[in-house]
Amino acid sequence: MDSKFSIRAVCFIFWVALVRKAQGEDININRYGAKADGKSDDSQAITSAWKEACTSIDPSTVVIPKGKYMVGPVMFQGPCKASVSIQVQGNLLAPIDLNKHKSQDGWIVFQNIDRLMVSGGGTFDGQGSLAWSQNNCAKTRKCNSLPINLRFIGVTNSNIQGIKSWNSKLFHMSILNCKNVTIQHVTINAPGESLNTDGIHIGRSTRINITHADIKTGDDCVSLGDGSQQINVEKVNCGPGHGISVGSLGKYHNEQPVIGVIVRNCTLTNTMNGVRVKTWPASPSGLASDLHFEDIIINNVSTPILIDQQYCPYGQCQSKVPSRVKISNVCFKNIRGTSATHLAVKLACSRGIPC
Ligand SMILES: *[C@@H]1O[C@H](CO)[C@@H](O)[C@H](O)[C@H]1NC(C)=O
Ligand SMILES: *[C@@H]1O[C@H](CO)[C@@H](O)[C@H](O)[C@H]1NC(C)=O
Ligand SMILES: *[C@@H]1O[C@H](CO)[C@@H](O)[C@H](O)[C@H]1NC(C)=O
Ligand SMILES: *[C@@H]1O[C@H](CO)[C@@H](O)[C@H](O)[C@H]1NC(C)=O
Repeated sequence: MDSKFSIRAVCFIFWVALVRKAQGEDININRYGAKADGKSDDSQAITSAWKEACTSIDPSTVVIPKGKYMVGPVMFQGPCKASVSIQVQGNLLAPIDLNKHKSQDGWIVFQNIDRLMVSGGGTFDGQGSLAWSQNNCAKTRKCNSLPINLRFIGVTNSNIQGIKSWNSKLFHMSILNCKNVTIQHVTINAPGESLNTDGIHIGRSTRINITHADIKTGDDCVSLGDGSQQINVEKVNCGPGHGISVGSLGKYHNEQPVIGVIVRNCTLTNTMNGVRVKTWPASPSGLASDLHFEDIIINNVSTPILIDQQYCPYGQCQSKVPSRVKISNVCFKNIRGTSATHLAVKLACSRGIPC
């Protein structure tokens, strides 16, 4: 054999291997036997593909191709050895039966992952309509026993983009203990009458950037719970829904302060509220400061600008005792459009510590 030729061939193979490494490896869930018939439970195929990706020492991508996948509760557990992407092109369907959700309090959970990318234009369909009709949390006070569609817990330096969340049983997306996460071009869709289906809820997280989101739902489009810091919400379309909210705060002890929120260049249409800050009366002490709401368009919004320190849904509190959450340095700037009522601005600040 010509020795020159064989060296060339070896070099070529080596080069191909290098390119393959740099691009990362695709792990298609079909390789693990996913059926994509919308009936068979494909959870195991997804979990196995994730395990392969997460233990790979090179960057890799889990591919969920076009098709319908019935999946039970799934946990994408880190930490992983390298960055991992999940390309969701297909349509994932949650079990309708609540008994199948007992194992964890989110349907799809991402936990302790650094450098995660979720993209691909696919849909996470919570199939929640039966659950809403059985949601009687106003009576039982147990409002959180339904699964959240997508939970991100302890996720850092990550991107979530171009995915869709439909008809979640409870919140659509929850971001907890996360840092430096960008959420862009996500679409969230549930009917205006669906109960407790907040679009994106953030808590105890820093440097979260939500841009270009389109949110139609039955509760807050974006809600920022305790410990939300350096949050940017930009170019979000909201409606129907309850608006973009800081809070509610002051329901529990040991809540962390909310500091540094910018809500900018958003449009709210036919929503119950526009931009608001809500805290419970008779609360432990707390803090919400440096909140900026600017360049917002409101179309037919019932309460466009609201600070409500007597927030008490279902009448479950001592509403006469003032809230002890201190609200300071709040700026509402260039908010324009139409109100659905005679009211434009309502500032019901705490009598205990006025804002
Ligand atoms: C934030 O996350 C992005 C990836 O989404 C990464 O490129 C960037 O370096 C991170 N920033 C810091 C300060 O770690
Ligand atoms: C948020 O993300 C968008 C899109 O990637 C980017 O243009 C913008 O600068 C980011 N904003 C902040 C405050 O990080
Ligand atoms: C958002 O910004 C774009 C470009 O800067 C502008 O054309 C648009 O009118 C703004 N929308 C709102 C609601 O301020
Ligand atoms: C305006 O909002 C009210 C109350 O939410 C609603 O009944 C009405 O249909 C809305 N109007 C339009 C034009 O959407």
